[in-house]
Amino acid sequence: MAKKYYITTPIYYPSGNWHIGHCYTTVICDALARFHKMKGEEVFFLTGTDEHGQKVEKEAAKRGITPREFIDPLVAELKDMWRLLGVEYDRFLRTTDPDHVACVQHIYQKLYESGDIYKAEYTGYYCTPCEAFWTETQLKEGKCPDCGREVTLQKEESYFFRLSKYAPRLLRLYEEKPDFLRPRSRVNEMVNNFLKAGLADLSVSRTTVKWGIPLPFDQKHTAYVWIDALSNYVSALGYGTADDSLYRKFYPADLHMVGKEIVRFHAIIWPAILMALGEPLPEHIYGHGWLLIGGEKLSKSKENARPELTDPYALVKRYGADAVRYYLLREIPFGSDGEYTTERFLLRINADLSNDLGNLVSRTQAMIVQNFGVIPPRGKEEGPDGALIAMCEGLFERVDADMGALNAPEALAEIFAVIDRANKYIDETTPWLLAKDPSQRARLGAVLYNLAETVRLCCVMLRPFLPAATEKILKSFGCEDSADLTFGALKEGGPIEKLPPVFPRLDLKKELAEVEKLCAQAKAKADAPSPAAEKESEGPKPPVSFEDFRKLELKVGEVVACEKVKKSEKLLHETVKLGEELRSVVSGIAKYYTPEEMVGKKVVVVTNLKPVKLCGVLSEGMILCAEDGAGNLSLVSPERLVESGATVR
Ligand code: MSP
Repeated sequence: MAKKYYITTPIYYPSGNWHIGHCYTTVICDALARFHKMKGEEVFFLTGTDEHGQKVEKEAAKRGITPREFIDPLVAELKDMWRLLGVEYDRFLRTTDPDHVACVQHIYQKLYESGDIYKAEYTGYYCTPCEAFWTETQLKEGKCPDCGREVTLQKEESYFFRLSKYAPRLLRLYEEKPDFLRPRSRVNEMVNNFLKAGLADLSVSRTTVKWGIPLPFDQKHTAYVWIDALSNYVSALGYGTADDSLYRKFYPADLHMVGKEIVRFHAIIWPAILMALGEPLPEHIYGHGWLLIGGEKLSKSKENARPELTDPYALVKRYGADAVRYYLLREIPFGSDGEYTTERFLLRINADLSNDLGNLVSRTQAMIVQNFGVIPPRGKEEGPDGALIAMCEGLFERVDADMGALNAPEALAEIFAVIDRANKYIDETTPWLLAKDPSQRARLGAVLYNLAETVRLCCVMLRPFLPAATEKILKSFGCEDSADLTFGALKEGGPIEKLPPVFPRLDLKKELAEVEKLCAQAKAKADAPSPAAEKESEGPKPPVSFEDFRKLELKVGEVVACEKVKKSEKLLHETVKLGEELRSVVSGIAKYYTPEEMVGKKVVVVTNLKPVKLCGVLSEGMILCAEDGAGNLSLVSPERLVESGATVR
């Protein structure tokens, strides 16, 4: 039977405003999952969203909508981000999925019946952003020891999980199986900072949080979000249901990959719950490091995420998913933190993808197309051939060992060492000179075959990391389905095609400016007023100075084209002419005007609002409308004929 591999990412808070740090865990897991699939293993790769809790409840209330209305578009955004990045999961679990809800209730019921959950009164300090409780002694200067923010004292009736009972077994686990948690430094942290100090029982229910899973034995209480979230690792496979075949097949997980700030939940609380349930523990937990910016964790809630630099959508759109994947997988030393800068990101693309891989591919293709038109015969081995072939032949074992150690940067370094060797091989064998000498035709063929075969092998090995680019390259060598890892498997006489550069070389200065601009548009979107803020802005407004009024730029525009925005009932997308300039503008007026009616209309446009994207469409301005008491909109237009581009003041 094929070996199986079950890998999980933590499930994400549906927060929107994703930054590149959010992509880190999931891209690593995707590369690992693809690598294990490549090895012929049966893989189950789980990711999803963590949707309950006070934070979501509060955010939704602020906007005057239900938690579900708040979450659904954010979940869709996250899924879209994984799609863009080529993340191929086997299940995207939402903690609001009915099977997950039933499983969490099953877990609580079982633990209640076995006496591992009991009722008492809770007094503790709660950190809403971290969804974590702390005792007074755990606080740092009266603030949350994890994130440094304010905590609130809470006192309420609660159910507790007997975590204290499992401390000795957990300590034994770390003595007997030290690689249960990696890297090693995290074990010391868990053992010395938490386990040796003794564990207090854990409050696992709330009466104040309504947006949660009701406990089956006491509907006044909802499940503590961390127990709810952690249970996803078993609920996703049908644990505790009539059909638990996936659970029996894939559980225990080979790997829970998590960021280091949530290791405590995965390495102490979750194993204790599994012990109490009598279920096996995962094989390994890995607590990876963070992407930093200015030495601090990239974090949306600390507002240092600099969306103007780190918006994954903008980066993927401009440089492609593979460039972002490559950066994340290659640049951050695994297990440690790594500073994110746009320069390093761009340099990586240029140095490795454009120069090393891109040049090898285009030089090899150009010379084969020019001299043979098909893959030339392999010929006999001579000169530097042996050294190159030897490097190719041991490559899979080296990459496999690195991926076994979860070290993607090292695995990529191995593959790129071969690419580098092949580029040197070109310099050593000088095929452009061989091409000038008809007596060297067989040698030219052999050299070019060795190069093409090296490209094929490296691309087969790179597939889990760079799925889109390798597919293109392998296809151009006529071997998109190739999985053979032996040197020489490339068919002589096979087709070949010259591709345009897969990773065009970037002008760093220009790109730095471009990234700032693109990501600033993303930031503008993040800064766009929420419906609640808009509501707040209704009613009489305080006076503003003339200076402030003059900060607005208003112009007369002519709508020259208009269409409905797909997936939106409210929005129209207009192209507005402002003098010589054309602008893309999105307006919420589809209920009042048809696209046909809009074309030719003269309108007043606010032209210096920060651009935003609405339903994926860029809006570089706002068309002014008058709104009557019933909320109906009517366009504001100049009363006499005025040229488009005229200033409104
Ligand atoms: N919902 C919890 C996890 C529950 S798992 C049972 C959570 N969600 S999160 O959205 O805040 O984080 C998701 C993942 O993104 C975590 O692994 C976290 O460590 C990771 N990262 C968030 N910011 C990051 C960086 N700046 N760098 C690397 N990873 C980062 O935690």
